[in-house]
Formats: sequence, C-alpha cells, structure tokens
Amino acid sequence: MIIGIGAGNPDLMTVQAIAALGRVDVFFIPDKGAEKSELRELRLDICRRFLEDRTPRFVDMTMPKRARPGAKDYDGVVDDWHDRIAEAYADLFARELKDGQCGGLLVWGDPALYDSTLRIVERLKATLPDLDYEVVPGISSPQLLAARHRIPLNRIGAPLLITPARRLANGIPDGVDDVVVVLDGEHTYRRTDGEAFDIYWGANLGLPDEILISGKLADVRAEIDAAREQARAAKGWVMDTYLLRRRKI
Ligand SMILES: C[S@@+](CC[C@H](N)C(=O)[O-])C[C@H]1O[C@@H](n2cnc3c(N)ncnc32)[C@H](O)[C@@H]1O
Repeated sequence: MIIGIGAGNPDLMTVQAIAALGRVDVFFIPDKGAEKSELRELRLDICRRFLEDRTPRFVDMTMPKRARPGAKDYDGVVDDWHDRIAEAYADLFARELKDGQCGGLLVWGDPALYDSTLRIVERLKATLPDLDYEVVPGISSPQLLAARHRIPLNRIGAPLLITPARRLANGIPDGVDDVVVVLDGEHTYRRTDGEAFDIYWGANLGLPDEILISGKLADVRAEIDAAREQARAAKGWVMDTYLLRRRKI
C-alpha cells in the first residue's frame, strides 16, 4: 500500500488514507539521516494519531545514498540509485512480510508528484512478480501552497508548468506564464526577472514553522532570501515551493 500523507500537517490526511493505514501490517519507514528526522517523526506521529489501538510493526529502511550527478549523467545516477533502493525494499519485504501481509509506504505529499516510490515499486515487480499494490493520493505541496496563499495555480484556460528548479537554469521559457517550482536548492527566484514576475512563496508548508511571502518578485526577493536562510539555519534544512506568475503589463 502506497499512501500519500499530505505535505506537512497531519490534518491533511484524507479519509481514504486513514482507512488505508488501518490495513497495513508492517510500515517501512525510510531513514534519511539526522537532517530529515523531523519528517520521519511526522510519519510516525501520523500513524500514532490515526491508528488508535491497532499495533502494526514499524521497520526502518536505511535509504541508499545517491551518487553526486555530474552535469551530464543525471539520469544514469538516478537510475542506479533507484535500482539500489528497489533491491533494499525487495530484501526487506522478503524478510519482514509474511504471506498475505500488507506492507505500507508513507509518501510525503502525493505519490504521483516528484516522488519516485511508484517507479521503484514498479521495478520491484521484476524480483517480486506477485507483488500487488494500491496507491492512495495525498495533498501535494503545490496544492497546499495555493490554498495557503488563497490563489488558483492556473489562469483561466491557461496551462501550468510544475518543474524542479534545475530545469529553469536557463530562465523561464517564453510563453510560460505560470510556473510552480519545487526542489530548489539554487535560489532560482534570484535569477528570475523581478519586474516581470510575481511570486507566491511557501516554506515548510503545513508545519509549525510555515512561512508565506508573496508580492512582486523584485520587492520581496530579499525578504524571501532572509526568511529562507533563517529557516534553514534553525533546523539545518528548509523545504520551499513557489509559484512564479508573469505580471500583466
Ligand atoms: C521530492 S519533492 C516531493 C513532493 C511531494 N510528493 C508533494 O506531493 O508535494 C520535495 C519538494 O516538494 C516541495 N515540498 C514538499 N513539502 C513541502 C512543504 N511542506 N513546504 C514547502 N515545500 C514542500 C519542496 O519543493 C521539496 O523540495
């Protein structure tokens, strides 16, 4: 069972996701190191809160580390990393799940958006051909961003681009007016034309230290920089997502 748990606040768990938790015998909880331990705790809190008197088992999964991709071999590095994660899951499932038992993977936000769990589980079918699974959707970070800023993500009848920041290294393509940026380790909003775009920025959405800033990019860029650095300094990491919306002239 692959369960989307929403992008922060446990209140974002859907009724379907809560029901799915109740069918899991063994949860596999990824351990991504100290920095991400708050996210690990949040997954466990969700289980404690919604499982009531059920007592499934929890098994830690040490995530294999990704090699540092060079400029050109990004896909190859990710492919190799996914293979190693799939192998680790195959071993764990074989060891920890008895016949007929249900394993559970809790995926941050929605499993279909910038998360590789579904791709990795698909690979597992090569070694575990009888593996069957369900996917439960969750509230993703772009959805949460939009709700917190009280904005629609797209304009009427217009397309919306959702992209990791690294794909904007050469700027926002002509003809793209609304872009949701995720996975930004590079402060991409700093390199974007501050007069041409508004920004709706959200950090640690749904968590107690959530920050929201919006406005003309040129006006709020320094404020975002400072808030981002402060949030990162406070606990060693920050997750941010933002919409860049081309201003109408
Ligand atoms: C690997 S992607 C996972 C996306 C997730 N599956 C979803 O549906 O939101 C991680 C990126 O999502 C964004 N993100 C996830 N949770 C967030 C949150 N609570 N606040 C702000 N951004 C978040 C950040 O851009 C982060 O770098």
